[in-house]
Amino acid sequence: MKLLHALGAIALGVTTLNAWADPGRDLLSKQCIACHAIAKPDNMSLDRLWERKGPDLYYAGSKFNREWLEAWLQNPTVLRPSGVLYAKNVVGHEDSVDTIDGSKLEPHMKLSQEEAALATEALMALKAESGLIQEGAFKNGPVNAKFSAMLFGKLRGCTSCHAAKPDDGIASGPELYDAGNRLQPDFVYAYIKDPQKFDPHVWMPNLNLNEADLQKLTGYISTLKSAEKK
Ligand code: HEC
Ligand code: HEC
Repeated sequence: MKLLHALGAIALGVTTLNAWADPGRDLLSKQCIACHAIAKPDNMSLDRLWERKGPDLYYAGSKFNREWLEAWLQNPTVLRPSGVLYAKNVVGHEDSVDTIDGSKLEPHMKLSQEEAALATEALMALKAESGLIQEGAFKNGPVNAKFSAMLFGKLRGCTSCHAAKPDDGIASGPELYDAGNRLQPDFVYAYIKDPQKFDPHVWMPNLNLNEADLQKLTGYISTLKSAEKK
């Protein structure tokens, strides 16, 4: 009996110690969850998507490249020119360029180097649930830049929603001109294969891409790296 008590006390001590020893997780809970889901929400309704104030981060460790994440948290750039919910901020559309009412868009909070390191550590520990992102799905074959650019721009119309270069005025999806620095290729593959697997109501259409196109597009997107960040 005494031994059990002692073991219990040790177990309790370890749990408390863990909570205390995870300042990154603590930081996320204090400063980030007002806008970001860091655990998969039970409710994946359209209302939830409509009301959320920032992109989901509960699979961040399977989505972002660590180096990019740590740098971005210290010096955030605009990724979604029309905010996290396009429909709330776009006021017009002319000559295939969106007009955005930026008055409600606020710059992202900046973290110090130390905080960014802690947050990055905690975010990279948030791996996708099994089945969402398949590790090694992207085969990293050779990329025919010209053909892939055409697939991306013309054939598949990705550029009608995603900016492929800075300032091209396309704003309904996140920019992709720096996606090679930002995103893990296996995430890109999984997302473009079935966006609704990530959120049943997300408004990127399922483009029914075949395996060859998935490989080519993922390869192409992984080469998009911008030195000129905004
Ligand atoms: C007031 C709401 C708000 C708070 C608080 C906030 N964020 Fe954000 N966050 C946003 C919005 C909005 C975006 C989308 C910005 C964009 O796309 O340009 C974003 C984007 C991000 C992204 C990029 C996500 C992606 O999928 O592209 C990361 C990473 C991130 N935030 C981390 C954090 C962390 C870590 C904290 C806490 C230290 C935090 N955020 C606090 C609103 C917030
Ligand atoms: C009708 C508009 C639309 C089209 C067409 C479209 N997308 Fe998207 N895409 C979106 C939206 C909206 C999101 C998710 C936005 C969010 O989570 O903030 C998204 C997300 C993504 C993401 C994940 C990026 C991130 O940072 O979370 C990738 C990668 C992507 N799209 C690639 C593509 C590719 C490749 C094509 C063409 C085959 C394409 N998209 C076509 C609207 C579109």
